Amino acid sequence: MTALRIEGTTALVTGANRGIGRALTEALLARGAGKVYATARNPQALSTVRDGRLVPLRLDVTDADQIRAVAEAVRDVRLVISNAGVALATGFAESADVDNARREMEVNYFGPLQLIQRLAPTLAKNGGGAVVTIGSVAGLTNLPIIPTYSASKAALHSLTQAARALLGGQRISVFGVYAGPVDTDMSRALPVAKASPRDVAYAILDGIEAGQADIFPDPFAVAFGRQFEASPKASERQLAAMVSGAPAA
Ligand SMILES: NC(=O)c1ccc[n+]([C@@H]2O[C@H](COP(=O)([O-])OP(=O)(O)OC[C@H]3O[C@@H](n4cnc5c(N)ncnc54)[C@H](OP(=O)(O)O)[C@@H]3O)[C@@H](O)[C@H]2O)c1
Repeated sequence: MTALRIEGTTALVTGANRGIGRALTEALLARGAGKVYATARNPQALSTVRDGRLVPLRLDVTDADQIRAVAEAVRDVRLVISNAGVALATGFAESADVDNARREMEVNYFGPLQLIQRLAPTLAKNGGGAVVTIGSVAGLTNLPIIPTYSASKAALHSLTQAARALLGGQRISVFGVYAGPVDTDMSRALPVAKASPRDVAYAILDGIEAGQADIFPDPFAVAFGRQFEASPKASERQLAAMVSGAPAA
């Protein structure tokens, strides 16, 4: 996988207003990016970041017209970080869970799919670049506490593999990030140790600069990734055990 240098590059981040996206935006600026298109549903939320290299843009990743407009505006982009995501359902027993599952697929899978579709030609025109998808270890092995979110991240994982195969010939490197629990609004209810968004953001940029196709950006993720590589079944049993009463898989 061809590495990409952060210093001087032009990057785009989705969901840049809070959580990991905000930390990635700040880390990109701190590591010398030339320009950062910080996209958010409410770009005004980025007005507290005072840096001339920051270009806030409105982008709801489920809105095809907004994706098209952003693609028109970012002709010089070299690094696209698809970060925006939601985790809405904690089961699938209720009928509302199906609506939530659909929404998770819209944001976590169809959003990145359209983003890659619209921005890959720009990256190719610019001589190549990189796409980064912010996924989860729950996309490698279902975490039954958030089963439909995990399924949407599994779809994203599969898309990441497809993009890597299909775009490699255009000098576009595709990096998949598989994070463990990170201390953001999304994981507030999860009673486990969590990595800081800042540490995770820096680890992601290190992975991009090292040309690591699969990035495990925190201690939980590193341990999980090793176990998954050795035995996907053992990983399934580990995560299933987090739901009381789960039979041994
Ligand atoms: N936190 C974790 O433990 C963890 C672990 C593994 C992977 N991840 C992944 O990391 C990414 C960032 O999550 P986070 O932890 O930083 O969560 P977060 O604090 O809840 O932030 C989610 C971000 O996504 C944005 N977003 C949601 N729906 C959107 C849409 N339709 N269009 C554009 N932006 C949208 C939010 O914007 P608004 O403010 O407008 O809602 C917000 O900026 C997600 O893809 C998540 O799945 C998180």
